[in-house]
Amino acid sequence: MAKRNRPIGIFDSGIGGLTVVREIIKELPHEDIIYFGDTARLPYGNKSAQTIIKFSSENVRFLLKFSVKFIIVACNSSSSLALATLRRRFNVPILGVIAPAVKKAVQISPNGRIGIIGTRATVGSSCYQRQIKRIKSTAQSFVQACPLFVPLAEEGWTGNEVTLKVARRYLGPLIKKDIDTLILGCTHYPLLKKVIRKVMGKNIKFVDSARETACEARRILEKSQLKANQVKKAGECSFYVSDEPAVFKKVGRRFLGKRIKSVQKV
Ligand code: DGL
Repeated sequence: MAKRNRPIGIFDSGIGGLTVVREIIKELPHEDIIYFGDTARLPYGNKSAQTIIKFSSENVRFLLKFSVKFIIVACNSSSSLALATLRRRFNVPILGVIAPAVKKAVQISPNGRIGIIGTRATVGSSCYQRQIKRIKSTAQSFVQACPLFVPLAEEGWTGNEVTLKVARRYLGPLIKKDIDTLILGCTHYPLLKKVIRKVMGKNIKFVDSARETACEARRILEKSQLKANQVKKAGECSFYVSDEPAVFKKVGRRFLGKRIKSVQKV
């Protein structure tokens, strides 16, 4: 098979990466996708760098069995802590979700006051903050870990009073910092956009790392002539998980925005 028609490999700690898959399907509808969700070992967001690097390397090894042409780390925690190691270890182009979001945030932020919300691992890595400074030294970044957002999104509690209270508590400090732009630096947060918007107010610009990553993936594949032929039929997605395929199928539907036909446990 021509290299350009080989699948894209995408992995995440579990279900969240489906928000990235959803955007990839919109942006690159002809690509075949192999998705791996490490549901047996999630969440990654509360784990150490060493553990996240180990799990992420195993995930890449699994995807390489499918002769993928390109890999997307559809997890902010893993992108923050493991991407550099993965790129050194494996001979395949690998894209993470941080750089595309940073690029967009710096571009659209009117006053360079950028907020970032994510898991403890992402926030603790300082990866977003470092990359923002590298692109625009005068920009200021303010971070807030929002660990409870992950189970709330998975539970489907995307707009009730409990979630609103949690959001007020987490986001209050960022409002005080007078940020003008907010990066949704976790795969689960696009599902909570409405409630986050309600708390932050309508003037704050949002950057969704899933959306920006999909746009960046398209640019890279086009530039390196690895984009699947347009004449080909719509791409196909195959889903693999390390545990609980039935839960992945049920909960994943909300993240992907459509029904997941089949999931294989590996
Ligand atoms: N996928 C993770 C992220 O984007 C969130 C879930 C987890 O902690 O594993 O950071």
